Amino acid sequence: MPKPKPDTTALPCHIAIIMDGNGRWAKQRGKPRLMGHRAGVESVQDIVRAVRELGIGVLTLYAFSTENWKRPPLEVQALMGLLKTFLESELSTMVHNDVSLRCLGQTDRIPPEVRAVMERVTRETASNSGLILNLALSYGGRSEITQAVQAIARKCADGVLSPEAIDQAVIEQHLYTAGLPDPDLLIRTGGETRLSNFLLWQASYAELYFTEILWPDFRKQDLLTAILEFQQRQRRFGKTGEQAEQTPEHCS
Ligand code: IPE
Ligand code: IPE
Ligand code: MG
Repeated sequence: MPKPKPDTTALPCHIAIIMDGNGRWAKQRGKPRLMGHRAGVESVQDIVRAVRELGIGVLTLYAFSTENWKRPPLEVQALMGLLKTFLESELSTMVHNDVSLRCLGQTDRIPPEVRAVMERVTRETASNSGLILNLALSYGGRSEITQAVQAIARKCADGVLSPEAIDQAVIEQHLYTAGLPDPDLLIRTGGETRLSNFLLWQASYAELYFTEILWPDFRKQDLLTAILEFQQRQRRFGKTGEQAEQTPEHCS
């Protein structure tokens, strides 16, 4: 029997993914953690392709958190190297597939040689509009909100913004995701059921989907399963079920 397919008229506009479980995937195979991260790159390629094909506008991938800097230096170094190679090798595919790369996070902490590649790929894909691919790197939701507060406070101190004018829209404009829709569907692989400091502001009404599948095993069919479940949920945004039925909110 063919697997059910998601309704292409009700797809999420923005999918965010916490790509977790690489280390455990490697451990299960008696391999070093780095092998799990390497295998995870194939999932990234498969999922980016699938999201692009579905015509979903924004994909945010959590690749490295502000807390991940606390990992053993050798693992951090290996992850940075993997990231650099990935971006270098994906540039032509991104250009070909009309994908625009953006990096969200404390980029000043990223080693200069990796940052240079990040900036080059961002620049060379900036005019693409088929898919916005956000890579959350050295990203933390709390640090994102903190830097937004600092920027807003500076504007107030400089007299260009009054405290009374600060509303949710102003805060949104100072986040890394300024101008983008909030994630509708947030997926976490690897079995943990927590946010780990990911998109704390933006995910306030995201549908959360947790799966035991480890990231290196996560493929297009698993994404479609998550989207199918998303489509079975009723998003009420605080309203009653009856109200939500009458005026369903949808992004596209
Ligand atoms: C996710 O996999 C990748 C990063 C956090 C960089 P992990 O490395 O956290 O894998 P587990 O959770 O140890 O299995
Ligand atoms: C979250 O995974 C960060 C990324 C996937 C990049 P972690 O493995 O760092 O999360 P915790 O430490 O288990 O919460
Ligand atoms: Mg983990």
